[in-house]
Amino acid sequence: MTSNNFSSPQKTSVKKPLLHTLQGHEVWPPPIWLMRQAGRYLPEFRAMRAKADFLTRCMTPDIAVELTVQPIRRYKMDGAILFSDILILPWVMGQSLAFVEGKGPVLEPIRSEADLKLLDKNRVLEATRPVQQTLSILAKELPDVTTLIGFAGSPFTVACYMVEGGGSRDFAQTRKMMLQNTPLFQKIIDLLVTTTAQMLSAQIRAGAQTVMLFDSWGGLLPPQEFRQFVIEPTRQIVEFLRAEHPSVPVIGFPRLGGVMAVEYAEKTGVNTLALDTVTDPTKIASMVPSKLALQGNLDPMILLNGGDALVKEATRIRDSLRGRPHVFNLGHGVMQQTPPENVALLVDSVRNV
Ligand code: CP3
Repeated sequence: MTSNNFSSPQKTSVKKPLLHTLQGHEVWPPPIWLMRQAGRYLPEFRAMRAKADFLTRCMTPDIAVELTVQPIRRYKMDGAILFSDILILPWVMGQSLAFVEGKGPVLEPIRSEADLKLLDKNRVLEATRPVQQTLSILAKELPDVTTLIGFAGSPFTVACYMVEGGGSRDFAQTRKMMLQNTPLFQKIIDLLVTTTAQMLSAQIRAGAQTVMLFDSWGGLLPPQEFRQFVIEPTRQIVEFLRAEHPSVPVIGFPRLGGVMAVEYAEKTGVNTLALDTVTDPTKIASMVPSKLALQGNLDPMILLNGGDALVKEATRIRDSLRGRPHVFNLGHGVMQQTPPENVALLVDSVRNV
């Protein structure tokens, strides 16, 4: 079966089913998009990869538009997530960044006041202009039913990469700074709160209809630190965005936050709580307000594996959240080895009610 055989996203009369859901209304069947839906599992993505390195792809509007649109063309996803990266922010402030094949991101680590002083927060709006341009082209070109999603990393997760100098299993250097030089770590977080809020606000002005905060690593923290470095900075960003763009919903993704996700949902003011794979959707649903949209949470491994087990699990998640606003998604990004036809099967299963 080709992707062209699929029915249009809405069986409801709602213009943008995803946006409507994020605003707290139930849509049935639920809208669907996937984290990292643009990526190396798609042959058309790999073809573009040969043309430019990752940062160039992010910062060249024509390329970023094409990469954002590829999964929409193929699967008619309800949401189009901007093709970019959470590490663009420290990079535009002046921190060196390279994506090394087989290793991931490599940054010149920030370990002292002097390192931090080298960053220039006043460059963010100007330097992210190509990203804003990408969004304004997308806002014009995407189908009317598709919701355009902007995003950023949460201050804690971006700080992890900035201090560590790259990916890590435990971000030990970062957490050491957090404990040994809390004022310096807090300064990094505060810088990221201000610049993330400004950058997301610019994304919205350029055409993003919702924004998502990716907090991939907050789950490393004990409750007190989670409150201080995850919940409070997120609350400040949401407060800023609410004041500037009252009707634009914010999605928060406190990955591996465990039971702290409930407090996160309550205190940050996000409209939607994105769930990781380990969270039981019906359990968390009973612990958060009924108007709060939930997003998630299929295991990317089940998507990669495919077949009847995929259909069964996708249907189970969809049906278990019926009766409240729910955006179907994964609990983390699409894995590189995922067969593209499995994504088609997933979208079809979720829409086929
Ligand atoms: O979801 C989407 O399709 C939109 C684009 C997007 C990317 N990264 C593109 C990307 C988004 C939303 C991100 C978020 C991101 N980036 C996170 C948070 C979510 C998560 O996965 O936990 C994090 C931690 C990063 C940092 C990052 N970027 C890492 C660790 C890597 C290396 C891993 C890898 O796959 O090589 C990246 C690179 C990256 N970001 C790629 C893409 C498509 C792969 C680059 C390539 O194609 O060469």
